[in-house]
Amino acid sequence: MKILIFCLAVALVHGAEYRFPTNESEPACKLMKITAVMELMQTSQDQNDTKTVTVKLAELPVKVEDGACLEPNQTSTNLDLNIKDGAAAWGFLFTIDAKKNLFMASTFSFTPNDFFSNDENETVSVNIPSEQLSEYTKSYICDAAITSMFNATPVENSTYFYSLSLTVSDFQVQIDGIENSTFSEGDHCQEDTKTTTAMPVTTTENPGPGKPPVNNFTIPGNCILIKSALAVELPYQTASQNTSKTINVPVVPAKDVKGNCNLTSNSQMLSFKFFDTWVMSFIFTADGDSLQASVDDSRAYHLSNVSLVYTEDPKHFPNTSNPGAAKTVSANGLDQFKVEGDQSSFKCNSETDLDLGNGAKLDISNFQYRAFANDNSTDFGSSGVNECSADSDSNSVVPIAVGAALAGLVVIVLIAYLIGRRRSKRTGYESV
Ligand SMILES: *[C@@H]1O[C@H](CO)[C@@H](O)[C@H](O)[C@H]1NC(C)=O
Ligand SMILES: *[C@@H]1O[C@H](CO)[C@@H](O)[C@H](O)[C@H]1NC(C)=O
Ligand SMILES: *[C@@H]1O[C@H](CO)[C@@H](O)[C@H](O)[C@H]1NC(C)=O
Ligand SMILES: *[C@@H]1O[C@H](CO)[C@@H](O)[C@H](O)[C@H]1NC(C)=O
Ligand SMILES: *[C@@H]1O[C@H](CO)[C@@H](O)[C@H](O)[C@H]1NC(C)=O
Ligand SMILES: *[C@@H]1O[C@H](CO)[C@@H](O)[C@H](O)[C@H]1NC(C)=O
Ligand SMILES: *[C@@H]1O[C@H](CO)[C@@H](O)[C@H](O)[C@H]1NC(C)=O
Ligand SMILES: *[C@@H]1O[C@H](CO)[C@@H](O)[C@H](O)[C@H]1NC(C)=O
Ligand SMILES: *[C@@H]1O[C@H](CO)[C@@H](O)[C@H](O)[C@H]1NC(C)=O
Ligand SMILES: *[C@@H]1O[C@H](CO)[C@@H](O)[C@H](O)[C@H]1NC(C)=O
Ligand SMILES: *[C@@H]1O[C@H](CO)[C@@H](O)[C@H](O)[C@H]1NC(C)=O
Ligand SMILES: *[C@@H]1O[C@H](CO)[C@@H](O)[C@H](O)[C@H]1NC(C)=O
Repeated sequence: MKILIFCLAVALVHGAEYRFPTNESEPACKLMKITAVMELMQTSQDQNDTKTVTVKLAELPVKVEDGACLEPNQTSTNLDLNIKDGAAAWGFLFTIDAKKNLFMASTFSFTPNDFFSNDENETVSVNIPSEQLSEYTKSYICDAAITSMFNATPVENSTYFYSLSLTVSDFQVQIDGIENSTFSEGDHCQEDTKTTTAMPVTTTENPGPGKPPVNNFTIPGNCILIKSALAVELPYQTASQNTSKTINVPVVPAKDVKGNCNLTSNSQMLSFKFFDTWVMSFIFTADGDSLQASVDDSRAYHLSNVSLVYTEDPKHFPNTSNPGAAKTVSANGLDQFKVEGDQSSFKCNSETDLDLGNGAKLDISNFQYRAFANDNSTDFGSSGVNECSADSDSNSVVPIAVGAALAGLVVIVLIAYLIGRRRSKRTGYESV
């Protein structure tokens, strides 16, 4: 009973139902029920600046703008939503194939200025690819919350690019065969049927705190070279128990490695993508204002900033209370991993944990890097490696153990010798 009341409350708060024709006194020929949470993300071209706006469809004024019911023999029809008085639009296109299966594709478009107040008035479109629903005369139901990320089609001369993290739940749609303006029986999506039978699957999909893989990163010009095993620890709130959990995910081999090799600037950046949409970046800064750090003999540089932009997708954050939330954590003004004088790189095989704020951490191990290099070389070179003290501490464990064992052996031999000497004295023998 409690569960039922809870579900009703949720439906009342979030669910929104759209119909065509909009005039309630005419019979409906198209019905859609949807709970949609959209995280619109604005990212500057150099990726150092991101902004996110959360839009809940049910909390915005939405008008159905569509002119027709499905005619016999017609194989496509649409349903268009006008959101927030034209600030955004969501157009659904339904198509029917020869086997009478229904497919749905959609386009979400918006005017950036209306959401980010950034003076960009050119409409940006996000294409959401076609997916198969049910047979076209039935309804299609998907109660499960499903989050997907999409990049907007880039707009020429735009200062930003945009992306959309869309979480849809409590979804039902029908475009034909509607009687009495209510949904007919329907087929459920795979995710709904999965939850009742194969719940443990989600836990195995979530990578545990295994050993993260070693990644190599370089950018064109090879001014920055990084070899490292990386893992991130990220806290989050779960919906069910309202408790805080922490995930530990290894950073998998990365894509879209970007950066700059500007040798006359006193900082260089390397960033990369992983899990499709997460972006991690490192900034290395030359000490003082010694420009041309790599050429100068007195060069010195260090890791100064680390940031991670990620999405609380349910795949990595099971039962998150905030699916689709875009987050940024960072550490700025660091003075880590210093390379000085004629050293060519910094190395630390031991694990270093960098605090990224809000309980987030970056675990770095098997690490070696160099920056501000101008020799096109793709290896670290052997001259002057600055190794962290943690490595030499762990290296000195073995010599100490060996030394202690040897000392123990000497004592034992000495005792044995003394005992032997006593015995031989007693028995009258003379020996060494
Ligand atoms: C709604 O439909 C009824 C019956 O078809 C009609 O009388 C009425 O004027 C319509 N209302 C609007 C606002 O169009
Ligand atoms: C991003 O970098 C550009 C130049 O690279 C700089 O002008 C801008 O201020 C930076 N923005 C932030 C938020 O750091
Ligand atoms: C629909 O197609 C069938 C056969 O393809 C045809 O017999 C029928 O007349 C068509 N109906 C309409 C309304 O066009
Ligand atoms: C964008 O539109 C807003 C509101 O219509 C207007 O105030 C602003 O000047 C426009 N900006 C540009 C760059 O056109
Ligand atoms: C983009 O900028 C270039 C150069 O300023 C200009 O020639 C072109 O017309 C612009 N394109 C659009 C769509 O504004
Ligand atoms: C539609 O409503 C009519 C009259 O209220 C009823 O007789 C009929 O069974 C209903 N059909 C469905 C499919 O609910
Ligand atoms: C990374 O680079 C090191 C040497 O710098 C090399 O031994 C290792 O195989 C490389 N790993 C990958 C995955 O490319
Ligand atoms: C998610 O919450 C449900 C109860 O709401 C619980 O049964 C399940 O174990 C939770 N899953 C995880 C991975 O914590
Ligand atoms: C969840 O926990 C936070 C902080 O402990 C609290 O403010 C909030 O009211 C709790 N929410 C629910 C639904 O219990
Ligand atoms: C390199 O950095 C210097 C100093 O910050 C700047 O003046 C110059 O424009 C940069 N060059 C490029 C190609 O970005
Ligand atoms: C790097 O950290 C410094 C020191 O806190 C800060 O001033 C700078 O803005 C940071 N750079 C970026 C790109 O966040
Ligand atoms: C590095 O490569 C670039 C382009 O291939 C070339 O112009 C430059 O002279 C090379 N520098 C060195 C130090 O080899």
